[in-house]
Amino acid sequence: MGRALQRFLSQSGIALISTFAAIIAYLALEVYSRRRVTHMLSHSVRPALPPFWVRGMDGENAPQCMAMRGDPTPDPKAFPYSDELASRVQITKFCEDVKIDTTLDVALLACDPGRAEWDIVFGPAKSPEYRGALWFLDYQASNSPTPQLLPIDDFPDDRSFHPLGINVHATSQDTARIFVVNNAAVVSTIEVFDMDRTDDGWRGRFVRTIFTPVGTYGADAVWPIDANRILVSNMHVYFHRVSPYDATVEMVRGVFGSWAARWFERNHVDGQFPSYVSFSEDLIGSGWVSHIAFDDEIAAHDGYDWRAAEAGTETELVVSGIKFANGIQLTPDKKHLVLGETGMAAVLLYPVLSENPTWERAERLGKALVLPVPFLADNVFLTPPQNDADVLPEDPLQGYSILTAGHPSALDMEESLKGNGTAPSWVVQIYYDPAQPKDQAPAPANELGFTPAHNFTVQSLLITKGANTPDAPSVASSSGVSWDPTYRGRGTFMVAGLYSDDPLICRGMHT
Ligand SMILES: *[C@@H]1O[C@H](CO)[C@@H](O)[C@H](O)[C@H]1NC(C)=O
Ligand SMILES: *[C@@H]1O[C@H](CO)[C@@H](O)[C@H](O)[C@H]1NC(C)=O
Repeated sequence: MGRALQRFLSQSGIALISTFAAIIAYLALEVYSRRRVTHMLSHSVRPALPPFWVRGMDGENAPQCMAMRGDPTPDPKAFPYSDELASRVQITKFCEDVKIDTTLDVALLACDPGRAEWDIVFGPAKSPEYRGALWFLDYQASNSPTPQLLPIDDFPDDRSFHPLGINVHATSQDTARIFVVNNAAVVSTIEVFDMDRTDDGWRGRFVRTIFTPVGTYGADAVWPIDANRILVSNMHVYFHRVSPYDATVEMVRGVFGSWAARWFERNHVDGQFPSYVSFSEDLIGSGWVSHIAFDDEIAAHDGYDWRAAEAGTETELVVSGIKFANGIQLTPDKKHLVLGETGMAAVLLYPVLSENPTWERAERLGKALVLPVPFLADNVFLTPPQNDADVLPEDPLQGYSILTAGHPSALDMEESLKGNGTAPSWVVQIYYDPAQPKDQAPAPANELGFTPAHNFTVQSLLITKGANTPDAPSVASSSGVSWDPTYRGRGTFMVAGLYSDDPLICRGMHT
């Protein structure tokens, strides 16, 4: 008996050790094959970057760039306090995303000035009760760079609001449905608002909250397919926020399978993932994309209950195994899905295989084309072809460009959160061009070393160390970008930064 037990133990010990060795070998191989990314994680790039550079600034008609600062607006639920107004106020600080909509001629900003108190990704997750806000700017109608707070009616009183990714679905020239990722107190949700143009600017109205374990557990960005169907990118599984145990188990089962759910049930620490998950998951790839179809006739539920936010929804897992899934958008012809993969410093371009995808079957997406960029890619934004340029039939983007903003150094980002300097910003434009022209970015930034995907070019639009000075506006830790290069749109280029004091607006950026 004793001997049998000993043999069993030694055998399972060997199994355990070899499993462990295999995992270590796999991770080592991953780290090695991703030297480009590990460099971005462990090195400061500030010395290599210019203080502030935007495309065209050395030319004759240089773009005019300035801070995009809204007036402090009283809101008892905001985090910042203004002595002058003797009130808590919303300000345009720590705006993660900015989206221009060319049907409405409006730009929307998603800002959370209390982020340093409630950051479920970087921590700490201390005080969820404050609210961030949305801001709008009718960027074509006026020269003003000053956005206004978007008033929202009927948002339930008991909710926290920590906006991250945002997107707009215009339903006419004066009405839209907007979707906002909310890193709320209990779980991450999608907030659905309808927005109307009024005589005093835009006004929003709360429609509903969406939470589903597979749909929004790790939500980062959202793309509306139509008014009742969305694609949601989910970054990963470990967060500084403690989520309900049942929601976590359901998410793990739905995304990773029942064996993983059993593993979680055995290995969780007080209902949370063990902390080693947070160190390895963006290497292994625990991010995913889901599709949610939802009913908007659901009454706004009082008293926060995550199960109530599941009512009238249907969720499908679209793709998994992503190394930190971030910005998301469908191409206008709906034939490709564009997805920022932060942990690979790349944007993925997935062919959508079905002509009319219901997103309900396996095999919805083909193999992704990997489009590397010189930073950890965050949000994405597509701009139409310029100057009636010839569109090559084999161009999967059909003349469109992918813009993405991101973080050229995770170390600089971490240091800036500790109060050591600012986090740099980098924005590029990716488009199909078999001639592959060299990036016009200033040296030595353009020598930071990466090879664009075959037949694609990557051209920088903005590079900065991120430091603001009174006479030189800048933007730190760029995470969102939008651009309307047309003359009608005044060549408006906007960059928002996760931990930036102000977003940046440049006018006159036509090419
Ligand atoms: C500040 O950050 C840089 C990297 O960006 C690092 O090299 C340096 O040691 C940091 N300084 C302090 C005092 O932590
Ligand atoms: C790259 O471009 C060339 C020239 O236009 C074209 O013949 C080739 O098919 C392209 N390859 C891919 C993978 O798109």
